[in-house]
Amino acid sequence: MRIIESDILVIGSGIAGLFFASKSADSGTINIITKAAIDDGNTRLAQGGIACVNNAHDNFESHINDTLLAGAGFCNREAVELMVSLAPALIEELVNIGVKFSKENNILDLGKEGGHSHHRIVHSTDITGSVIEQALVKNVSQFKSIHTFEYFIAIKLVVHDSCCYGTLALDTQTGESVFFRSKSTVLATGGGGQAYLQTTNPLLATGDGYALAYDAGVPISDMEFVQFHPTMLHHAQAHGFLISEALRGAGAELVLPDASTFMQHYHPLGSLAPRDIVSRAMYTEMKVLGLPNLFLDARSISPKTIETHFPNINTTCLALGIDMLHHLIPVAPAAHFICGGVTTNLDGCTGLKQLYAIGEVARTGVHGANRLASNSLLEGLVFAFQTANHVKENLPYYKNSVLLPNFPVQKLPKTALEQKEIAHLRLAIQTLMWEHIGIVRCELGMKEGETALNLIGSRIQVLLKTIQLDRELIELNSIYKTAELIINAALKRTVSLGCHYIEYPNTYKNSGPPRDKNILKETVKVKELTQQIVDSEEIGNDHVIKIK
Ligand code: SIN
Repeated sequence: MRIIESDILVIGSGIAGLFFASKSADSGTINIITKAAIDDGNTRLAQGGIACVNNAHDNFESHINDTLLAGAGFCNREAVELMVSLAPALIEELVNIGVKFSKENNILDLGKEGGHSHHRIVHSTDITGSVIEQALVKNVSQFKSIHTFEYFIAIKLVVHDSCCYGTLALDTQTGESVFFRSKSTVLATGGGGQAYLQTTNPLLATGDGYALAYDAGVPISDMEFVQFHPTMLHHAQAHGFLISEALRGAGAELVLPDASTFMQHYHPLGSLAPRDIVSRAMYTEMKVLGLPNLFLDARSISPKTIETHFPNINTTCLALGIDMLHHLIPVAPAAHFICGGVTTNLDGCTGLKQLYAIGEVARTGVHGANRLASNSLLEGLVFAFQTANHVKENLPYYKNSVLLPNFPVQKLPKTALEQKEIAHLRLAIQTLMWEHIGIVRCELGMKEGETALNLIGSRIQVLLKTIQLDRELIELNSIYKTAELIINAALKRTVSLGCHYIEYPNTYKNSGPPRDKNILKETVKVKELTQQIVDSEEIGNDHVIKIK
């Protein structure tokens, strides 16, 4: 088997992996492996921006408190303080490597998002992730010490004597198996939204890092806290496109089909309440009204603001026949972010020597039971920075391996039928997770989900033993392991906390959560009104209503 050696191995090429690599370029040789093109990941899709205290009206304590409050008191305060206090300096570093953030009158334009008491979201219009990713890719390419291997997917961490020595990986273009040997390995594989049927995550967010760590016996925690973003664009051709919370920060309101607001019944911050509360409120309204989606009303936002701040959202909506200046935007909640992950300390160290985890795959403690908006890119940056410092100091003491691990024996190529089966099993997991371990959970439902998942798992084991590994099969296994971790954690937490919301501990009801009488009266009224909307106009989409 081919061995490709480096001092440091980074698995994943989003904001955390690339920022770590650029900060570590003078610490040793670095190999980055990524299962698609280098810039093809979840970071690229991030819209809102990075939360950062950046003007005299705001202060660290406020950002810390907002984070702790959104996290339902379950965050690690020390980690939150570290993250918030490092934010301004790291934003500056991004500016220095060429990231152009939106400015007004030559100062950073700060957006507002749910759960924040101040305008503090640094952004590049509504394509912040893509702008950062491009700058980081360019920056990393300048270092001779960094080599990138695209289309290599990690299969199994190589562990010996309780130390990690890199990973086995598959070159998905040639089918060749390779041992990426290293003295320190950094998991920067992102999240696993693809464990759910409805998600804002791209197809490649399959939880690979959770699966790698799980198989190696590395501690993982808080996986029950799956965050559902309230506003995925609900349209058959939108493929999980996100409508950024920043749009609500600029004045858009969540509304029912008659354009009436409802969030005021659920939280004093209305449409800008923390995400878990907004998603649950939407779930409730959709269930009672029997609707597949609700709407975002952005018609109060000026055309100029839409043009300058939300060009990507506007273009995407227009392409689907939704003119946000005049139409309500159909939206529904979808899985967005896994708050838990591979347990780390403040230096990115995991429970396995010489293995680190950064970005969404890590559980640093900053998100607690529910992540505050725009703290995810920030977490990626801060803990990549911390980890780079730790690796630099400790690399001289890390052991090298002489080991040549066994690679799984050659098996038969998959048949067309098995190819279909893999896609079918992926969909079956996504469906059961959405229905049984979704926005609102109950014990019986979660147990039903667990039983169904176990059956699927047995079949995946057979496939793994009999057919050649390829990206689809590896990703299916990752999704399965991610789902298993979420279900196991969810079943252990018997009371509601943050994004983990248990409606009926022991029963399974489909009638929606208990509602106070006023809300019930309101929604009955709305249902009648909905039927009376005679001026509705369909524009190639069942759920677009043009209110005249
Ligand atoms: C958004 O723009 O709404 C997403 C930002 C985030 O996930 O924090």
